[in-house]
Amino acid sequence: MSRIVYVNGAYLPEEQATVSIFDRGFIFGDGVYEATSVIDGVLVDVEAHLARLERSCREIKLSLPWSRPELVAIHRELIKRNGLNEGSVYLQVTRGAADREFPFPKQAASTLVMFTQARRLLDAPAAKTGIKVVSAPDLRWARRDIKSVNLLASVLAKQFASENGAQEAWMLEDGVVTEGGSSTAWIVKDRTLISRPLSEKVLPGITRQAVLAFVAESGFTFEQRAFTLQEALAADEAFITSATNFVMPVVEIDGQPIGKGVPGETVGRLRALYIQFARKGGALG
Ligand code: PDD
Repeated sequence: MSRIVYVNGAYLPEEQATVSIFDRGFIFGDGVYEATSVIDGVLVDVEAHLARLERSCREIKLSLPWSRPELVAIHRELIKRNGLNEGSVYLQVTRGAADREFPFPKQAASTLVMFTQARRLLDAPAAKTGIKVVSAPDLRWARRDIKSVNLLASVLAKQFASENGAQEAWMLEDGVVTEGGSSTAWIVKDRTLISRPLSEKVLPGITRQAVLAFVAESGFTFEQRAFTLQEALAADEAFITSATNFVMPVVEIDGQPIGKGVPGETVGRLRALYIQFARKGGALG
């Protein structure tokens, strides 16, 4: 069934939605994006996603001529027009179409594209089995805090994972794990959750932020620090977080079982807590 998608002010059947071949998103990867999950037809933590979008735009000096309420309204309209109950809304904004010159064009208007993807999130089969991860070198650029559409390094890392029977790649740099190809990486040791501090080396995950909000009151401690692959292999449990995975157990890394090799208790509890939070629409409804 054809979806209704959004392109620069118009809601169109996906077959009729087009952008110019000169669009700088296509030519240079000159753009940023967000993916926000939807549960029971309601957006999860959309304000936080849009705040990060605004920051990404500022960091690359990209004009975002849509206000936050306008963007929320487009998200909701797409959910309505597509009857989306569970899945996600993808948003991409680029520096628009102009003849191919590297510096910013003087005249181009930003391009905004949005579409929905239906997907099982609450009952994702992987949540019961856990996922497998493989390690791969982190080949990305130096500003990973910006949610850029330049995803080639992640595409290659995740393809490598896929070819090796895994669902995610944990990327390594300077002997430590940076993050997943499209998720935040965490390990659990002695009831302490460990994940890297925010910096230009990783994307500030919105799901990470939400999990941290209820970690302390749930009796867990959190240590913000980078961890090595060896530490991950010796961890009690491991997991990833992302808008479309929520909290997802990792049961194997590079062919070696983590903990008992099945989804652990801590991750199960965190997933349940996150789902409770997400069902209310997240932090700001
Ligand atoms: N990816 N790190 C990277 C490199 C990511 O691409 C993502 C999200 C995350 C988790 O961020 P959040 O919790 O805000 O989703 C961390 C999205 C889902 C994607 O590319 O589809």
